[in-house]
Amino acid sequence: MEQFHSEVISCRESARDYYELIFTWKGPVPLPGQFLTLRCWEGDSPLLRRPFALSSYDAAERRASLIFQKRGPATSLMTHLKTGDHMDILGPLGGTFPPPETGRRPVITGGGIGTGPVLFLADALSRAGLRPLLVLGFRDKNFVPRVHLPLGCETVICTDDGSAGQEGTVIDYLRSRDDLAGSHFYGCGPNPMLKGLHELAVEQNAPCSVSVEEVMACGIGACQGCAIPVNLPRKFLRVCQDGPVFDSRILVWT
Ligand SMILES: Cc1cc2nc3c(=O)[nH]c(=O)nc-3n(C[C@H](O)[C@H](O)[C@H](O)COP(=O)(O)OP(=O)(O)OC[C@H]3O[C@@H](n4cnc5c(N)ncnc54)[C@H](O)[C@@H]3O)c2cc1C
Ligand code: FES
Repeated sequence: MEQFHSEVISCRESARDYYELIFTWKGPVPLPGQFLTLRCWEGDSPLLRRPFALSSYDAAERRASLIFQKRGPATSLMTHLKTGDHMDILGPLGGTFPPPETGRRPVITGGGIGTGPVLFLADALSRAGLRPLLVLGFRDKNFVPRVHLPLGCETVICTDDGSAGQEGTVIDYLRSRDDLAGSHFYGCGPNPMLKGLHELAVEQNAPCSVSVEEVMACGIGACQGCAIPVNLPRKFLRVCQDGPVFDSRILVWT
């Protein structure tokens, strides 16, 4: 982890209320699943740095990207970022997605604010010669991001209303397939999607690694603000330090 200044290369709306931010990266090499915290505003409001998962890293160009949703004060300010603007970055933070268990095909699901980290993961695994199944889910066609999709994956888009790709949720789509035995499941996105993925993995006795996006304060393991309940003797783990990627079987699903 390092704190460094970064320059914005571009920031553009990639879907309704979603933006792709590309910026220079001067820290240690980030891996899929890891995140950063950033500030790109003057003064005390918003007070806290904000966490975002990385959606790509280009080692040759030393640049990285993230995909964010406009939600509140910080992300609203971020929508105004322009080429050359400065950001203060702390990263890379947290752990990474584990590699798939030997012989298992990666089946990667994402949606909403979880789209960025799964694109990064799918790209890395396809570059490693695996051919992941990447299934991305959105409310409707307006939320499907216009971003570079990783080559070398079998990519499927799902929308709740069928206005783009397959109609239904990511989990509906996965359940319609009969070739998922021997998968290693990965996910990042809304809780119902992650819970559905966990249940599918349990039925198939398959590993399932999910990235959790909990509200954070310090982002570096000091405040306990991101603790979540787990089925372990420790009872609670911190998303920022112990995660954000967890084996779905240790999480408490409600
Ligand atoms: C490890 C990690 C990775 C993340 N990656 C991404 C990402 O790739 N893209 C992205 O758009 N967002 C991501 N988030 C969420 C992002 O940090 C929040 O959306 C952002 O901090 C909101 O700041 P704000 O000031 O705009 O809104 P706030 O006023 O702080 O929040 C607006 C609304 O979003 C909710 N919210 C705030 N933080 C989170 C959170 N962490 N998870 C769920 N809901 C939250 C609040 O409860 C509130 O309802 C990630 C969060 C974590 C912890
Ligand atoms: S945000 Fe402070 S411990 Fe995780």
